[in-house]
Amino acid sequence: MTANTPTPVTVLGTGAMGSALARAWLAAGHPVTVWNRTPARTEALAAGGAAVAGSAAEAVAAGRLVIVCLLDDSSVGEALEHASLSGRDVVNLTTGTPAQGRARAVWAEARGARFLDAGIMAVPPMIADPSSGAYVFYSGSAELFREHRDTLAVPAGATFVGTDPGFAALHDVALLSAMSGMFAGVFHAFALVRREDIAPREFAPLLQGWLTAMAGLVHRTADQLESGDYAKDVVSNAAMQAAGNATLLRTAQEQGVSPELLTPYMALMDRLVAEGRGAQDTTGMIDLLAGRPAAS
Ligand SMILES: NC(=O)c1ccc[n+]([C@@H]2O[C@H](COP(=O)([O-])OP(=O)(O)OC[C@H]3O[C@@H](n4cnc5c(N)ncnc54)[C@H](OP(=O)(O)O)[C@@H]3O)[C@@H](O)[C@H]2O)c1
Repeated sequence: MTANTPTPVTVLGTGAMGSALARAWLAAGHPVTVWNRTPARTEALAAGGAAVAGSAAEAVAAGRLVIVCLLDDSSVGEALEHASLSGRDVVNLTTGTPAQGRARAVWAEARGARFLDAGIMAVPPMIADPSSGAYVFYSGSAELFREHRDTLAVPAGATFVGTDPGFAALHDVALLSAMSGMFAGVFHAFALVRREDIAPREFAPLLQGWLTAMAGLVHRTADQLESGDYAKDVVSNAAMQAAGNATLLRTAQEQGVSPELLTPYMALMDRLVAEGRGAQDTTGMIDLLAGRPAAS
């Protein structure tokens, strides 16, 4: 089966994301059945050729591949409470935790369905735009993924991260968490220059260039985590960085900027140094966070 083979797709939930997904399958020529708790939100899709089901159960009955894109995990349970999932391939693109993904897999399989959980690395305008870099993490039934891979790849790239149904959410949340840290730093940086005669639009490219250059260091961190050696070829050791933090904090004070987004990160670095690991890279902070015994 290829992306061009028309495959009936049911989409439960036509909020911002569900609508974008449904539009992508419609545009690719797949027969789409939609359901939404508030029927008015299906009107634009109906005008675009989607069949509108009167209930979630009716939508699920329309075809084998069932895409669920609702607000949260409890809405998934509520919406599908009265649907017969036997013989269905349920793909849950609702954001949740790894534990929710695993529990939802057990729940779906007990009802006779195959199940994939998913985490969407995109916002709705990126859907169906191959140049946007949008993709979706999937985990759970490898057979389901293999059989529907081409259809799943229509709205955004499809990346399978394992048969553990919790892994898609774990990858999703790990990347989102990294983004939170990145924006914490970005917001602090903008705050530092905010009161000066420095145009944010001129500062932004400098910020982007620096973050892009630093982003590559994640591979070094990964290598150290895999080798367990945090002391080899260290160029910016933890003690030096912890000392440098004093300059960051003092500058924040001079500029009248709250250091609240930076201080937890710095406190963890101080802990690493206090444990006598100042000569190492800061990779040991990951073990402190994860509550794992120190490597070398
Ligand atoms: N938008 C994004 O940027 C984005 C990015 C990545 C992932 N996601 C994920 O995609 C999922 C959907 O997000 P969205 O942007 O489409 O949100 P949204 O526009 O707020 O839509 C939420 C959808 O969930 C439905 N819903 C809420 N509670 C329900 C319940 N108890 N029973 C049945 N349906 C219920 C809503 O129905 P009504 O219309 O009746 O309220 C609506 O269809 C979320 O898990 C979100 O985290 C979104």
